[in-house]
Amino acid sequence: MTGLKIIATGGALPSRVVTNDDLSKIVDTSDEWIYPRTGIHSRYFCGENESTTDLAIKAASQALERANIDKEQIGCVVVATLSAEFACPSTACLIQEALGLPTDIAALDINAACTGFIYGTEVARGFLSANGKKYALVIGVEKLSKILDMTDRTTCVLFGDGAGAAVYEADDTMYYSIQGACGAKDILVPGINEADGKSYVSMNGKNVFKFAVSAIPRVINGIFEKSEKTMDDVDWVVCHQANSRIIDHVVKKYKAPTEKFYKNMDRFGNTSAASVPLALNELCESGKVKSGDSVMLVGFGGGLTEAGVLLSYAPKA
Ligand code: UT7
Repeated sequence: MTGLKIIATGGALPSRVVTNDDLSKIVDTSDEWIYPRTGIHSRYFCGENESTTDLAIKAASQALERANIDKEQIGCVVVATLSAEFACPSTACLIQEALGLPTDIAALDINAACTGFIYGTEVARGFLSANGKKYALVIGVEKLSKILDMTDRTTCVLFGDGAGAAVYEADDTMYYSIQGACGAKDILVPGINEADGKSYVSMNGKNVFKFAVSAIPRVINGIFEKSEKTMDDVDWVVCHQANSRIIDHVVKKYKAPTEKFYKNMDRFGNTSAASVPLALNELCESGKVKSGDSVMLVGFGGGLTEAGVLLSYAPKA
């Protein structure tokens, strides 16, 4: 076995929708500032009783139901998150227990910020290669609202909560992946709010923007080099949904049709590790992606990290 294909996806969102207008009542901001710069109109925030674990279990169970497989055949559970409910037990172990998944497989959380789901895909491929099992469950989940400084308008308007999941099947047809990482502490890190001394997300937006518009083509070109394919061979590209302008920049660079690059940050904001699988799930639910289509997933973000994977969509049902 050398690669993976996507056989099913799932998603979950918290109950509370927070619009740009809602945020303008908390901080000095407006839809007129946020939307043109980011493409974001609203996002979901967890209510008091909604946890990262709840979202992850919902998304995972939807993906598993849709996969139409015997859950005893799941060969690993990998959860990408930077906002797990607990450091231990891991979200992955809580999913394993809640969904009655096999106990003779690995279940673990990883953190590669917004690139986490794509790193997680590669980690899952490694487990299946090692244990010879057929299917992997990979989830990206975040409750970023708990680490947002709601007095900092430069960050609190950008992020949201949610979860996305995929069931992968070991596959020999088409799979190319690439990963990168480069330690940078100064542009996207937990910051300290002087008023309460707590640690929150802080970001140098302009520098992260510059990183993003160089990282995405680096990842895409890296995959093209390995696969000897071009943008014409790729049916769908699902990038991390940080900012609509970042994706527009890439579309222009490759002279690609706009529809090839899926976007949903208008309703979800930036959900870090959940962003790619949530967008992938919406794309699959839309019915636009057909069995046998090629899908490229591209992530970039905190660390700094970047990664991509090119694989097929082939649902079983
Ligand atoms: O997953 C992580 C990946 N993250 C990203 O990809 C984010 C990449 N960066 C960006 O998307 C953009 O840099 C932002 C959307 C975050 C910011 O846009 P910008 O055009 O770079 O704005 P800026 O930071 O230069 O701020 C311009 C002005 C400043 O005011 P002054 O100094 O010119 O008076 C800010 O204080 O806009 C002000 N500002 C705001 N105003 C209203 C910053 N945030 C807000 C806000 N509402 N929410």
